[in-house]
Amino acid sequence: MFLDLACGPGYALREAANRTNGRGQLYGIDNSSKMIEVAQASSNGCPNVHFCKSQAEELPFDGNFFDVVMCSNAFHHFSNPEKAVREAQRVLKPRGRLYISDITANNVFMRIFDTFMHSLEPAHVKLYSRQEFRAFFERAELRYVSSVRSDVIPPIEVHIAEKSAACLHLKRRLIIKFSNILTRFF
Ligand SMILES: C[S@@+](CC[C@H](N)C(=O)[O-])C[C@H]1O[C@@H](n2cnc3c(N)ncnc32)[C@H](O)[C@@H]1O
Repeated sequence: MFLDLACGPGYALREAANRTNGRGQLYGIDNSSKMIEVAQASSNGCPNVHFCKSQAEELPFDGNFFDVVMCSNAFHHFSNPEKAVREAQRVLKPRGRLYISDITANNVFMRIFDTFMHSLEPAHVKLYSRQEFRAFFERAELRYVSSVRSDVIPPIEVHIAEKSAACLHLKRRLIIKFSNILTRFF
Protein backbone atom coordinates (compact mmCIF):
# COMPACT_ATOMS: atom_id res chain seq x y z
CA MET A 1 0.00 0.00 0.00
CA PHE A 2 1.56 3.20 -1.24
CA LEU A 3 0.40 6.84 -0.97
CA ASP A 4 1.68 9.88 -2.87
CA LEU A 5 0.76 13.13 -1.09
CA ALA A 6 0.10 16.06 -3.48
CA CYS A 7 0.63 13.71 -6.43
CA GLY A 8 0.05 16.34 -9.14
CA PRO A 9 -0.46 14.62 -12.51
CA GLY A 10 0.56 11.27 -10.98
CA TYR A 11 3.96 10.61 -12.64
CA ALA A 12 5.45 8.96 -9.55
CA LEU A 13 2.53 6.58 -9.12
CA ARG A 14 2.60 5.44 -12.74
CA GLU A 15 6.34 4.85 -12.43
CA ALA A 16 5.78 2.88 -9.21
CA ALA A 17 2.97 0.86 -10.89
CA ASN A 18 5.31 -0.04 -13.77
CA ARG A 19 8.06 -1.10 -11.41
CA THR A 20 5.80 -3.24 -9.23
CA ASN A 21 4.08 -5.00 -12.17
CA GLY A 22 0.54 -4.42 -10.92
CA ARG A 23 1.25 -5.63 -7.38
CA GLY A 24 -0.08 -3.63 -4.43
CA GLN A 25 -2.45 -0.68 -4.39
CA LEU A 26 -1.17 2.81 -5.16
CA TYR A 27 -3.06 5.93 -4.08
CA GLY A 28 -2.53 9.59 -4.92
CA ILE A 29 -4.17 12.62 -3.38
CA ASP A 30 -4.01 16.25 -4.46
CA ASN A 31 -6.10 19.26 -3.49
CA SER A 32 -6.45 20.41 -7.11
CA SER A 33 -9.41 18.93 -9.04
CA LYS A 34 -7.61 19.71 -12.29
CA MET A 35 -4.53 17.70 -11.24
CA ILE A 36 -6.70 14.75 -10.16
CA GLU A 37 -8.53 14.82 -13.53
CA VAL A 38 -5.21 14.78 -15.43
CA ALA A 39 -3.81 12.03 -13.16
CA GLN A 40 -6.91 9.86 -13.65
CA ALA A 41 -6.98 10.35 -17.42
CA SER A 42 -3.26 9.52 -17.73
CA SER A 43 -3.50 6.40 -15.56
CA ASN A 44 -6.37 4.66 -17.40
CA GLY A 45 -4.36 1.50 -18.00
CA CYS A 46 -3.29 1.09 -14.36
CA PRO A 47 -6.13 -0.67 -12.43
CA ASN A 48 -4.22 -0.59 -9.13
CA VAL A 49 -3.64 3.19 -9.21
CA HIS A 50 -6.30 5.34 -7.51
CA PHE A 51 -6.63 9.10 -7.13
CA CYS A 52 -8.81 11.34 -5.01
CA LYS A 53 -9.07 15.02 -4.26
CA SER A 54 -8.02 15.73 -0.70
CA GLN A 55 -5.91 17.98 1.49
CA ALA A 56 -2.65 16.44 2.68
CA GLU A 57 -3.64 17.83 6.09
CA GLU A 58 -6.88 15.80 6.20
CA LEU A 59 -6.50 12.39 4.59
CA PRO A 60 -9.57 10.27 3.74
CA PHE A 61 -7.95 6.99 4.88
CA ASP A 62 -8.11 4.81 7.97
CA GLY A 63 -5.14 4.72 10.30
CA ASN A 64 -2.35 2.12 9.87
CA PHE A 65 -3.17 1.65 6.17
CA PHE A 66 -0.01 2.39 4.13
CA ASP A 67 3.44 0.82 3.99
CA VAL A 68 4.93 3.89 2.31
CA VAL A 69 3.85 7.52 2.14
CA MET A 70 5.79 9.86 -0.13
CA CYS A 71 5.62 13.53 -0.98
CA SER A 72 7.66 14.98 -3.81
CA ASN A 73 8.25 18.65 -4.55
CA ALA A 74 5.08 19.74 -2.74
CA PHE A 75 5.77 20.03 1.01
CA HIS A 76 6.73 23.71 0.60
CA HIS A 77 3.14 24.37 -0.60
CA PHE A 78 1.42 23.00 2.51
CA SER A 79 -0.34 25.61 4.63
CA ASN A 80 -0.16 23.36 7.71
CA PRO A 81 2.93 21.14 7.28
CA GLU A 82 2.82 20.02 10.92
CA LYS A 83 -0.67 18.60 10.43
CA ALA A 84 0.31 16.97 7.11
CA VAL A 85 3.15 15.06 8.81
CA ARG A 86 0.82 14.02 11.66
CA GLU A 87 -1.69 12.73 9.09
CA ALA A 88 1.06 10.80 7.28
CA GLN A 89 2.04 9.26 10.63
CA ARG A 90 -1.58 8.30 11.33
CA VAL A 91 -2.14 6.51 8.00
CA LEU A 92 1.22 4.68 8.06
CA LYS A 93 1.40 1.14 9.37
CA PRO A 94 3.87 0.49 12.20
CA ARG A 95 7.36 0.39 10.63
CA GLY A 96 5.93 2.18 7.58
CA ARG A 97 8.10 4.90 6.09
CA LEU A 98 7.53 8.50 5.04
CA TYR A 99 9.72 9.97 2.26
CA ILE A 100 9.59 13.73 1.71
CA SER A 101 11.63 15.05 -1.18
CA ASP A 102 11.89 18.82 -1.41
CA ILE A 103 14.25 21.77 -1.75
CA THR A 104 15.87 22.06 1.65
CA ALA A 105 17.02 25.38 3.07
CA ASN A 106 20.01 24.55 5.26
CA ASN A 107 21.87 27.85 4.91
CA VAL A 108 21.43 31.59 4.62
CA PHE A 109 21.57 31.54 0.79
CA MET A 110 18.64 29.17 0.66
CA ARG A 111 16.74 31.35 3.16
CA ILE A 112 17.19 34.28 0.75
CA PHE A 113 16.09 32.01 -2.13
CA ASP A 114 13.00 31.12 -0.06
CA THR A 115 12.05 34.81 0.26
CA PHE A 116 12.57 35.18 -3.48
CA MET A 117 10.30 32.17 -4.17
CA HIS A 118 7.43 33.94 -2.39
CA SER A 119 7.34 36.64 -5.02
CA LEU A 120 7.82 34.19 -7.93
CA GLU A 121 5.28 31.54 -6.97
CA PRO A 122 2.02 32.55 -5.24
CA ALA A 123 1.40 28.99 -3.93
CA HIS A 124 4.80 28.86 -2.25
CA VAL A 125 4.59 28.75 1.57
CA LYS A 126 8.05 27.95 2.98
CA LEU A 127 11.21 25.94 2.46
CA TYR A 128 12.43 24.03 5.53
CA SER A 129 15.85 23.05 6.82
CA ARG A 130 16.91 19.51 7.72
CA GLN A 131 16.51 20.45 11.41
CA GLU A 132 12.97 21.64 10.78
CA PHE A 133 12.09 18.36 9.02
CA ARG A 134 13.56 16.47 11.98
CA ALA A 135 11.40 18.54 14.35
CA PHE A 136 8.23 17.91 12.28
CA PHE A 137 8.92 14.18 12.42
CA GLU A 138 9.72 14.10 16.12
CA ARG A 139 6.58 16.05 17.06
CA ALA A 140 4.52 13.55 15.02
CA GLU A 141 6.18 10.59 16.82
CA LEU A 142 8.13 9.56 13.73
CA ARG A 143 11.78 8.52 13.92
CA TYR A 144 14.05 10.50 11.59
CA VAL A 145 15.92 7.76 9.70
CA SER A 146 18.18 9.74 7.38
CA SER A 147 18.32 12.27 4.60
CA VAL A 148 19.69 11.75 1.11
CA ARG A 149 21.12 14.77 -0.71
CA SER A 150 21.21 15.28 -4.44
CA ASP A 151 23.81 17.37 -6.24
CA VAL A 152 21.28 19.50 -8.09
CA ILE A 153 20.81 23.23 -7.53
CA PRO A 154 18.65 24.29 -5.74
CA PRO A 155 19.51 21.46 -3.31
CA ILE A 156 16.86 18.76 -3.05
CA GLU A 157 16.96 16.32 -0.15
CA VAL A 158 14.88 13.26 0.61
CA HIS A 159 13.95 13.16 4.30
CA ILE A 160 13.09 9.68 5.53
CA ALA A 161 11.12 8.90 8.69
CA GLU A 162 9.71 5.71 10.17
CA LYS A 163 6.69 5.01 12.34
CA SER A 164 7.73 2.87 15.24
CA ALA A 165 5.95 -0.31 16.18
CA ALA A 166 6.42 0.65 19.84
CA CYS A 167 4.34 3.81 19.47
CA LEU A 168 1.31 1.78 18.40
CA HIS A 169 1.77 -0.76 21.17
CA LEU A 170 2.03 2.01 23.73
CA LYS A 171 -1.18 3.62 22.45
CA ARG A 172 -2.98 0.24 22.55
CA ARG A 173 -1.77 -0.40 26.09
CA LEU A 174 -2.97 3.05 27.17
CA ILE A 175 -6.41 2.52 25.58
CA ILE A 176 -6.77 -0.89 27.29
CA LYS A 177 -5.67 0.57 30.64
CA PHE A 178 -8.06 3.50 30.25
CA SER A 179 -11.04 1.25 29.35
CA ASN A 180 -10.21 -1.03 32.33
CA ILE A 181 -10.34 2.00 34.64
CA LEU A 182 -13.64 3.13 33.10
CA THR A 183 -15.29 -0.31 33.54
CA ARG A 184 -14.51 -0.14 37.27
CA PHE A 185 -16.68 2.98 37.57
CA PHE A 186 -19.55 2.08 35.23
C1 LIG B 1 4.80 21.29 -7.73
S1 LIG B 1 3.41 20.22 -7.72
C2 LIG B 1 4.20 18.63 -7.44
C3 LIG B 1 3.41 17.51 -7.99
C4 LIG B 1 4.04 16.11 -7.88
N1 LIG B 1 4.24 15.72 -6.50
C5 LIG B 1 5.31 16.01 -8.67
O1 LIG B 1 6.39 15.89 -8.08
O2 LIG B 1 5.21 16.06 -9.92
C6 LIG B 1 2.66 20.57 -6.13
C7 LIG B 1 1.30 19.92 -5.96
O3 LIG B 1 0.90 20.07 -4.61
C8 LIG B 1 -0.51 20.21 -4.59
N2 LIG B 1 -0.86 20.74 -3.25
C9 LIG B 1 -0.50 21.92 -2.70
N3 LIG B 1 -0.93 22.02 -1.43
C10 LIG B 1 -1.59 20.87 -1.15
C11 LIG B 1 -2.26 20.37 0.00
N4 LIG B 1 -2.35 21.08 1.14
N5 LIG B 1 -2.83 19.15 -0.05
C12 LIG B 1 -2.77 18.41 -1.19
N6 LIG B 1 -2.14 18.84 -2.32
C13 LIG B 1 -1.55 20.04 -2.30
C14 LIG B 1 -0.79 21.11 -5.78
O4 LIG B 1 -2.13 21.03 -6.22
C15 LIG B 1 0.20 20.55 -6.82
O5 LIG B 1 -0.38 19.56 -7.61
